[in-house]
Amino acid sequence: MTAVPDPIPRLRKALLAWFDASGRALPWRLGAEGRRDPYRVWVAEILLQQTQVARGLHYYDRFLEAFPDVGALAAASTHAVLKAWEGCGYYARARNLHRAAGIIAADGFPSDYGGWLALPGVGPYTAAAVSSLAHGEARAVNDGNVRRVLARLYGEARPTDAWIQARADALLSPVRPGAWNEAVMDLGATVCTPKAPRCAACPLAAHCAALATGTPTAFPAPKVRAAVRAVEAVAVLIGNGQEAVLERRGGGLLGGLMGLPTRELVPQETAATALEALCKRLDARPGELLGQVQHRMTHRQITLHVYAAASSLPRQVVATAALSRLDHKALGLLRTRQDSLFAAPLMGRSSI
Ligand code: ADE
Repeated sequence: MTAVPDPIPRLRKALLAWFDASGRALPWRLGAEGRRDPYRVWVAEILLQQTQVARGLHYYDRFLEAFPDVGALAAASTHAVLKAWEGCGYYARARNLHRAAGIIAADGFPSDYGGWLALPGVGPYTAAAVSSLAHGEARAVNDGNVRRVLARLYGEARPTDAWIQARADALLSPVRPGAWNEAVMDLGATVCTPKAPRCAACPLAAHCAALATGTPTAFPAPKVRAAVRAVEAVAVLIGNGQEAVLERRGGGLLGGLMGLPTRELVPQETAATALEALCKRLDARPGELLGQVQHRMTHRQITLHVYAAASSLPRQVVATAALSRLDHKALGLLRTRQDSLFAAPLMGRSSI
């Protein structure tokens, strides 16, 4: 009896050949395979956790320009790190990068998966990515692209994390683990895309169970999404687009970042009463409504009512503050207006 040939070596060969010819030229891929600069790979992997590569590239370049190596990052102030992270969202990632840089500056870079996993902000995905790309360690990554590629390859509609990890571990090239991980991610991002996969260009088409069903996009089945909560808040702009009163936010609404003074509406509150309460806290006089901005976060849809207000509180330079995208949108309302805020008519003194 002839043994059925194991398809895994053929599959690995096909995908790695495709990657060598068609993989993306990304800035952290400089240097020898399996010996990449750990700092560049680490920063890229943290950044790309919630950001697509196309959009992340700009942020990556900006961050690397500000902090070209781990020493520069460790020596920077938290403010400077948050400023360089501006626009990327999920600011806890920047804080953890900064903390971990301090540890690495003192102790050196980790040399394996376990060492990376011990650093703040580094989970199994990042530890597997960095240890395979920078140290050539045989660790398989599991992210959204890997999930989709493997679910289709094996025709699995509802892959669990354990299932994906087991398949990814079995397929991983022991000879070129970093290249294999990046090949699967690139395939998912450029060929095996969610809605319109280019199966005719896929090096794994001959092995793909989902393609054989005729409806590859049915795999994996859509996840049931957690409900998105609508949140309303008011913010006041005291100052102008260059200098304004800014506060460090506490609580759930972009906590930790600087932004316009803000109050989330509590039940029964209207924008007008929330504005009054906010102005009372600040000892400010409320002014006219500048407009509303919408901002979508993972589980929240925020509507922010932005008002002008007047007060003698000290103002800060807007350009050097680390602001969230929500605040940039709020300040953007000014750009559409010609009139100066100082000249804007005030609604009269509040009841305070
Ligand atoms: N997405 C996240 N990390 C990536 C990497 N190293 N290559 C391609 N896509 C990625």
